[in-house]
Order: sequence, then C-alpha cells, then structure tokens
Amino acid sequence: MLDVQKLRKDFPILNREVNGKPLVYFDNAATSQTPKQVIDVIIDYYSNYNANIHRGVHRLSQEATDAYEQARIKIQHHFNAKHAYEIIYTAGTTHSINLVANGFSSLLKKGDEIMVSALEHHSNIVPWQMLCERTGATLKVIPMNENGELVLSEFDSLLNEKTKLVFVNHISNALGTINPIEYIIEESHRVNAAVLVDGAQSCPHIKPDVQALDVDFYVCSAHKMCGPTGVGMLYGKEEWLKKLPPYQGGGEMIAEVSFEKTTYADLPHKFEAGTPNIAGGIAFGAAIDYMNSIGFENIANYENELLEYATEQLLQIDGLKIYGTAKNKTSVISFNVGNIHPYDIGTILDKMGIAVRTGHHCAQPIMDYYKIPGTIRASFMFYNTKEEIDLFIASLKKAILMLL
Ligand code: ALA
Repeated sequence: MLDVQKLRKDFPILNREVNGKPLVYFDNAATSQTPKQVIDVIIDYYSNYNANIHRGVHRLSQEATDAYEQARIKIQHHFNAKHAYEIIYTAGTTHSINLVANGFSSLLKKGDEIMVSALEHHSNIVPWQMLCERTGATLKVIPMNENGELVLSEFDSLLNEKTKLVFVNHISNALGTINPIEYIIEESHRVNAAVLVDGAQSCPHIKPDVQALDVDFYVCSAHKMCGPTGVGMLYGKEEWLKKLPPYQGGGEMIAEVSFEKTTYADLPHKFEAGTPNIAGGIAFGAAIDYMNSIGFENIANYENELLEYATEQLLQIDGLKIYGTAKNKTSVISFNVGNIHPYDIGTILDKMGIAVRTGHHCAQPIMDYYKIPGTIRASFMFYNTKEEIDLFIASLKKAILMLL
C-alpha cells in the first residue's frame, strides 16, 4: 500500500496554486514531477562538485566522474543490462532513437524493410522515415484497431526475410495501450530483425528486464520517471552497439586523433561525444533510486486503481468518448466530449488549476485513424489521488456546461 499523502510531500510543486486553485497535475505522460530527493542531488552537484568528467586528475573531476558512472550502474541494474557499457547516456528518448537510426544508415540497403507500429509517437516514426530516405529501405506499418491495440495478425503477415528492424513503443503515449512487446521481439528475431522498444511511457510504470525480453535496443527519458529533463538512455546489446558507427564526433568519443586517422573510444564513450548533462545523469540515478524505494508493483497497482476510478466517472458524462480501450493499458485516458474542441476544454480546466494535455500528442497517425484533430489526455502518476480525480470530473462538467 502506498502512503500517497506522505509521498506527495516529496514533491514541492504539488503545493502550488494555479489561477488561485490548488494544482491538479494530470499531464504526467508529458513529464512527471520531480521529488526533492532528486532536486537535492542536482543542487548538491552544482554546490559541491561541479566539474567536467573523465578529464581531470583533480578531486572535483574525480568526484563528478564517480557519481556519473555510479548512476550508469544504477541504470544498468534497474533495466538489468548485462554490462554498464551497454547503457549510453543521451539527451532523452528522441536522441536515443536518432542515434540508432543514424547508425543503421550504413547497415541497410534498398529492398530492406523496417517496421513501425501505428501507435508510435512522431519520434519513433520520423527518424525511420529519414533512414528510409537515406538508404532506400521501405517503411511498413503494423496497423491498429478501434480499441487502440496492434493487429498482431497483420504484424505476422508483414514480417518476412526482408525485415531488418522493428520499432514499437512499450506503451502508447496517446492511448496508454501496453503493447505485447514480448511477442513482437520473439517473432522479429525469427527472421533476424532487430527490435527497438521505445520505453518513454513505460519507464514510469514498469520495470523492464532487457535481458529477459531479449530486446536489442530499449530507450527512455529520465523526466518521465521523476528525473530531470534533457537526459535519457539508450540500452543496446553489446554486439549491436559495437556494429553501429558513432553518432557524433568530438571530445570523449575518441581513442586517438590525428589528421590522418582517428580511432574511436570503447563503449559507452564511443557514443558520448562532448560534455554531457552530468548533473542530469547523476539525478537520473537518484530518480531510479526514488522510484524503486516506492516499488514498481505498488506503483502499478495504485495507478490502475486511479485509472479504473477515473474511467468509471468519465464514462458517466454524456457524449464523452474514450479513445484507447485496450484490455492492457496504463494510467492514460484520452477522450473527447461531443464536438467540443479539446483545446477549449483544456483551457478552461487550466483556469480551474487542472493540467491536462490537449492536441494530437505527437501521434498524428492515431488521430487520423480516429478521424479527430486531437484529444484531451489525463495521465496519472502514483502521487495523484482520487480526490484530485473528483475535482477534475467536477471541473470538467462545469467546462462542458460552459461550452455546450
Ligand atoms: N511525448 C510526450 C507526451 O506524450 C511529450 O506528452
């Protein structure tokens, strides 16, 4: 059982008011809030040992390097990677995906096929389209159904010897669907296709085991799981990371440089050119500690309760339609009310102190499937409460009355 009131005290932002009303923060799928345990780590870094890493023999540089590398090991253990050097620090999920997409430019050729799902965020579509433009490979799409689930029979028939890569999110950011990645990974491997799973939306709710999944690449952002923005990670199997060329050139990623020839550093540094987000990396480790101290099973159970409670209440509102009714979903609810534009409801809710996301959620193909411009999306974390949902429902009803 979670002591939610106690946990809420860890998040200073949850005490603030918006437009004179207590903040109800239901935009967690865009970014989660940051507990003081993580904020304190960032303050400590800049107050006490701010220095560049891997470069200095002086004390501060050594302390910063140690903390940064210890955080990498925390990330390794959290995702159960075999080696710490299979964890590459990035600026976030989008950066991680682009790193892999760029690397595959030299490994694909015309006639090869790569597959994405209809449920992807633009960041797991556009880099692959760009990769197809560069290589002449063809992009195939696993379709979705009305419930917002992937049609696996179509996936089965699209998969063939020409398929080289499959990209799918673990959880859809727009609908909350949990995708059957175990099946997708297993089947893709039968034809020797590599699989990248976008874990941006799963990392706050699920603790993935990359070795048990046997996934080739798994990517996520710290800011979705109580960490800071601007930092994330790419897990890649050692064999793949060795095969991929570096993404960016610069300091830190080299072994030897001369004007005749440059050789590259070993993993993970080969992919980590330039001064990274050092405080961010250390804070990412602290965020992982924080979430594990609550426990992912406790988190998932409680968030499911919130999801069921909110879904039940929303469905009682006349004209309200929920998009994304998969059997297996997390605490994300996308909906519209009659013909009211999502922005109008979102704007009025904001006046009442309630933060939701409105629009296409960077997933336009999903909106096109449903033939809608966008939705209102409420997404919950473990620090949200049923009382907040009550307030949200009452405010939503008022907003609808104003707009009808
Ligand atoms: N991908 C984030 C969201 O779904 C920004 O809101």
